[in-house]
Amino acid sequence: MNYEEALNHPIFKVISKSASELDLESYTIGGFVRDYFLNRESAKDIDIVAIGDGIELAKQVANNLPNKPKVQVFKTYGTAMLRYEDIEVEFVGARKESYTEDSRNPAVENGTLQDDQNRRDFTINALALNLSEDNFGDLLDPFNGIKDLENKIIKTPLNPDITYSDDPLRMLRAIRFASQLNFKIEEKSLKAIASNADRIKIITNERVVTELNKILESDKPSKGFLLLEKTGLLKYILPELTALKGIDEIEGQRHKDNFYHTLEVVDNISENTNDLWLRWAALLHDIGKAPTKKFSKKVGWTFHGHEFEGSKMVYRLFKRLKMPLNDKMKFVQKIVLMSSRPIILAQDIVTDSAVRRLVFDAGDYVDDLMTLCEADITTKNSKKYKKYHNNFKIVREKIIEVEERDHIRNFQPPITGEEIMETFNLQPSKEIGIIKEAIKEAILEGEIPNEYEAAHKLMLEKGEQLGLKAIN
Ligand code: CTP
Repeated sequence: MNYEEALNHPIFKVISKSASELDLESYTIGGFVRDYFLNRESAKDIDIVAIGDGIELAKQVANNLPNKPKVQVFKTYGTAMLRYEDIEVEFVGARKESYTEDSRNPAVENGTLQDDQNRRDFTINALALNLSEDNFGDLLDPFNGIKDLENKIIKTPLNPDITYSDDPLRMLRAIRFASQLNFKIEEKSLKAIASNADRIKIITNERVVTELNKILESDKPSKGFLLLEKTGLLKYILPELTALKGIDEIEGQRHKDNFYHTLEVVDNISENTNDLWLRWAALLHDIGKAPTKKFSKKVGWTFHGHEFEGSKMVYRLFKRLKMPLNDKMKFVQKIVLMSSRPIILAQDIVTDSAVRRLVFDAGDYVDDLMTLCEADITTKNSKKYKKYHNNFKIVREKIIEVEERDHIRNFQPPITGEEIMETFNLQPSKEIGIIKEAIKEAILEGEIPNEYEAAHKLMLEKGEQLGLKAIN
């Protein structure tokens, strides 16, 4: 079959011509071809296999392009990369590979296209389109990848034990593709992943996180996390989540399975946000429950302080996985820390002062926090479900109303410490803190509006109570 129409980007003709000049065959392979057949917008990268020297081909292509882009050469891997317009083109010579036990870095020999296709991860990623001038656009599909695309199956070209133990990252990739594309992983492959799971330890954290992020970015991330759990990979990557599994029962009292609950929350939130970090927050919002779980006869199961514990665990988890320890991490921590606040609020009558306190503490994160808490409603009791959602609706309305009136978000006290010092002719002292706190509390409680006049009056009253004298 011929698919010349897939190759309408001008770069392909340039590659074709360059390969002819070097008397080489070349093919485009992998994600670009797969995504074309899936009708899916492809990531802007194109992989090219040369039957011969891929680096030479890259240089020739660069030379034939109008802007003569720079070629980045990765000698150890025998690959080269160039950018043209908005795409990245990666070149490699067809290879026959064998991997060593303790490393992903293969020993490489030159090979044929078939050799190269054999060593690819999945049949759907081994599809190649010929770029030779004579057979431009011909499909080479030795493993029936097209059929697997139609049947939505993830399958390895070779015996899966070989494919996965060659490069254990592929176990994660299999699950990531299953989640991203809503495909099924072939049974044999699933078994091979389960028996090779501990080999994931040789994969760098950065690569693991890239795949985790892609799973989290899928429409229904639970699909990926359930597979990670089922195959035994999850305990190596995110033991904090496997620790949430299971239901304990003492004296007839049970708690919910917080692992499955978490996955429900992640799926729920994914319907309302594409923000990767908010999805991370949903994934981690209950991790503090494992270490804080307690049973007492009086109150049954409790998880006291799990939000605080969880937010500390977020830091350790990010550090371990070499994720950024920046404002994104702080965001996740804060959402985890505050994750129960709106729930308590919505169980009762929603007062203005409770809403003001929530906005004061959450600041700019308040909307994301509400989105998490709405996703956190997983009760199967439809009456309760409706009640909580309704209460959250009221909270959301009140947040807007209170904010318009009181400007609590990113609260700046209407009276500064300096003004208090000047008013009472004070040196830095604890009285200043007491007065500031009293003003803040009065505003949050709704006793005075968040305005200068009212705050000034309260400052004078408080000062007097503390035995201070205003100097004018
Ligand atoms: N590949 C592989 N084993 C890996 C990684 C990649 O066999 N561990 C092969 C696959 O043929 C894959 C191609 O290299 O299609 C390109 O890899 P990459 O760009 O990482 O992934 P894509 O398949 O393009 O998918 P995506 O862009 O969604 O990551």
